[in-house]
Amino acid sequence: MRITFCCTDTKPEPWLAGLRLALPQAAVTLWQPGAPLADHAVVWAPPQQFFDEQTQLQGIFNIGAGVDALLKLHLPPGAQVVRLDDAGMSVQMAEFVCHALIRHFRELDGYDADTAQGKWSYRKPRLRADYPVGIMGLGVLGQRVARAVAGFGFPVNGWSQSPKHIAGINSFSGTDQLHAFLQASRVLVCLLPLTPDTQDILNAQTLGQLMPGGYLINVARGGHLVDGDLLALLDSGHLAGAALDVFRTEPLPPEHPFWHHPKITVTPHTSARTLRDESIAQIAAKMLAMQGGEAVAGVVSLQKGY
Ligand code: NAP
Ligand code: GLV
Repeated sequence: MRITFCCTDTKPEPWLAGLRLALPQAAVTLWQPGAPLADHAVVWAPPQQFFDEQTQLQGIFNIGAGVDALLKLHLPPGAQVVRLDDAGMSVQMAEFVCHALIRHFRELDGYDADTAQGKWSYRKPRLRADYPVGIMGLGVLGQRVARAVAGFGFPVNGWSQSPKHIAGINSFSGTDQLHAFLQASRVLVCLLPLTPDTQDILNAQTLGQLMPGGYLINVARGGHLVDGDLLALLDSGHLAGAALDVFRTEPLPPEHPFWHHPKITVTPHTSARTLRDESIAQIAAKMLAMQGGEAVAGVVSLQKGY
């Protein structure tokens, strides 16, 4: 097996060492222009030149869950694109979303502001029943988040492409049920893949259907959100706030209004990080399975875009 590694913004040495340890029979090399042809690739945001040269690839292993950037490139025909399938991400996402949700629900920013001024003051406890949480995307991450949020006693709505039957989650699916899903939710969590169907899906029309005092947690992709529409809904008071981990341009440009908006919390695309050891173990196991002719989880549908 010949494996080539081409991951932008990633220190290659520990990945190469890990892959060599996991697959001692394979030749694992760092790609550079003109490198020999490989049959498997481990990638993150590779240049188009990589695929123009690596024309014999059977498996393209993306070291993240989202493949939106990868699918913009021209890929070698016949290669299977395989995304990370959890690999330690879902628990991180559950922690992150529950933290953002609870910080908003329990008004912890307000308490921080009070105690910073030496004020000992109480706010009226809120009712979980008044804060139904809507989760857009009930895939690997969305389902884990839905279970964690439900575990804290919040009512949970979920929205996906195909219908789901998940205990304790009110499931909605398809464009027909988007309206009902949004109207039944006050906190909205976006965990959709970025595809032509979901681009700009967080806009004035959709966010405007959330219950008044809505709160947005976007942990999927910046391209889901129409930035100006969010700002207008925050300024009008229809939305109470937003926790944003992903942005149209990353890093978020210094002049962007999100940085200093009093109702927006910004984090630098860190809600669920790629964990190297888990990822290498998963990728190596899948390469071996594919070599043995077995089906593997996490194969991306090029037609659906996720
Ligand atoms: P996944 O397993 O592929 O799940 C995607 C979910 O979205 C599925 O439930 C799917 O419905 C639903 N969906 C897709 N298109 C839809 C549409 N047009 N209408 C309604 N539902 C639709 O993906 P995942 O592993 O959970 O990851 C989700 C996304 O999270 C990734 O694509 C990535 O962009 C983002 N992410 C962000 C971070 C971060 O650090 N911020 C980290 C990892 C991932 P079906 O179930 O019916 O197919
Ligand atoms: C991170 O955003 C990922 O898609 O894994």
